[in-house]
Amino acid sequence: MTGPKSDVRLEMRQISKHFGGVQALRDVTFLARAGEVHALCGENGAGKSTLMKILAGAITDFDGQIFIEGRAVAFGGPRDAEDAGVRIIYQELNLVPEMTVAANIFLGRERKRGFGWLDNRTMEAEARRLFERLGAPVSPRALVGDLRIGDQQMVEIAKALAFEAAILIMDEPTSALSDAEVARLYRVINDLRQNRHTVIYISHKMNEVFTLADHVTVLRDGGFVASAPSCETEPRQVVRWMVGREIAAMHYEPHPVSERAVLEVKAVSLPSPPLSGRPALHDLSLHVHSGEVLGVAGLLGAGRTELLEALCGASPEPPRGAILLSGVPVHFRHPREAIAAGIALVTEDRKNLGLFSEMTVAENITISHVEAMSRAGVIDRAAEARAVRHAIERLAIKTAGGGALVTSLSGGNQQKCILARWLLIEPKVLLLDEPTRGIDVGAKAEIYKLIRDLVKQGMAIIMTSSELPELLTVADRIMVLCEGRKTADLSRAEANEETIMHAATQFLDRVALAS
Ligand SMILES: Nc1ncnc2c1ncn2[C@@H]1O[C@H](COP(=O)(O)OP(=O)(O)OP(=O)(O)O)[C@@H](O)[C@H]1O
Ligand SMILES: [Mg+2]
Repeated sequence: MTGPKSDVRLEMRQISKHFGGVQALRDVTFLARAGEVHALCGENGAGKSTLMKILAGAITDFDGQIFIEGRAVAFGGPRDAEDAGVRIIYQELNLVPEMTVAANIFLGRERKRGFGWLDNRTMEAEARRLFERLGAPVSPRALVGDLRIGDQQMVEIAKALAFEAAILIMDEPTSALSDAEVARLYRVINDLRQNRHTVIYISHKMNEVFTLADHVTVLRDGGFVASAPSCETEPRQVVRWMVGREIAAMHYEPHPVSERAVLEVKAVSLPSPPLSGRPALHDLSLHVHSGEVLGVAGLLGAGRTELLEALCGASPEPPRGAILLSGVPVHFRHPREAIAAGIALVTEDRKNLGLFSEMTVAENITISHVEAMSRAGVIDRAAEARAVRHAIERLAIKTAGGGALVTSLSGGNQQKCILARWLLIEPKVLLLDEPTRGIDVGAKAEIYKLIRDLVKQGMAIIMTSSELPELLTVADRIMVLCEGRKTADLSRAEANEETIMHAATQFLDRVALAS
């Protein structure tokens, strides 16, 4: 709980930072205590990650001062911050895909034996202990690039936990984790609090903030808005501080669905790549109609992402079984072929698969469109520029303009760019894998509305989400996966948190889950 002033471990005083013309932070003061979980909230682009990158020594050029335990500190880089006891789990995972899990965890801080030899055995054993603590079945010897995004997130967390840090920053650590994993992470965070660590926790999920945090600080448009003990405020208040207005909840509205299935999937199976920890798919069948949102629920590792990948030629190998698009069997060997046929996937893993980091916002939005257009032989540049402006407006993408580098955008705004890209193509079937991951409450409501508008215009959408309320808001039907098998196909009338969770844990040991 919030202690006396003498407990103040961190003070960031009048921090300002601009990137060219963009004022990311303006005179922000931030205070955190020992033994406290401190939530940092704000809309996409509010400046949360920038403030924390400054604290972690990743941004060194800024105005203002930082005090740790009352002493002024000046970091020349991340190493200095680490030496001062600050560790960060980045929002955009910062791992080396070609290296093993253990090598990633100890990167730059390798354990050595005599003569400078790497002590792989010790590092693997330590990594194994960390994953036990986190309750994550990740092999220290697996290549990070082979892991699913949720497990990569676990590696990032283990990496931060490997070293005793007085101040541990977590930038949206649960965005790709399942409920069970989130519960385990909460336990680890509570341990840290008890051992007097300071945890700074960035999240867009209000339930998370109010479950974990002792204190909440809110930023808006790069400025400080408010800071309060969480017991003295409530989610609605925090949201109001974040957006400066009330957000209307969206309610599901049915509309006619066409009789014919656009996409039919019959008995699709896919083996699991060795050592990857990714689930296999077993005998999955489904159909989705034009005008319909099919929600896909399941715990982490249930095969949701694998299913969407299998449908659009993005699996490591082609799936067995049949996929019919408008009644015609299709065999995609690459997502490009799927796009040409009218199926597009918005991936959950924007860093590795979704974004082109050297390109501008406009290029990232139009890239697949340009491919499609140049095949058709015409590119109308003016129309394209209009489309980019329209997309930026429609999704409220916060950017200096279409010409800005996409990496200059905040995490949530990058996610919106990927969505914008696929909206431009107007596929027949849109596959959305965790489309609102990392997106703030206000923008989420916009995206739900957008999804409903798209199906109203005749698109078919298959969407995964770990947030059940989200599926219950936008989906017309919900299918549930457990360990790569379909365990339920629920109408809206049948679908609720209970029926979904029941089906999602059908083959699992419930006792183990509850522990
Ligand atoms: N390297 C950069 N170059 C230019 N502008 C940047 C850069 N990094 C951040 N910005 C800008 O600074 C502002 C704050 O971004 P920041 O990433 O801190 O937001 P955030 O609060 O973490 O948002 P999100 O919830 O989307 O992650 C945004 O307008 C962003 O576009
Ligand atoms: Mg951020």
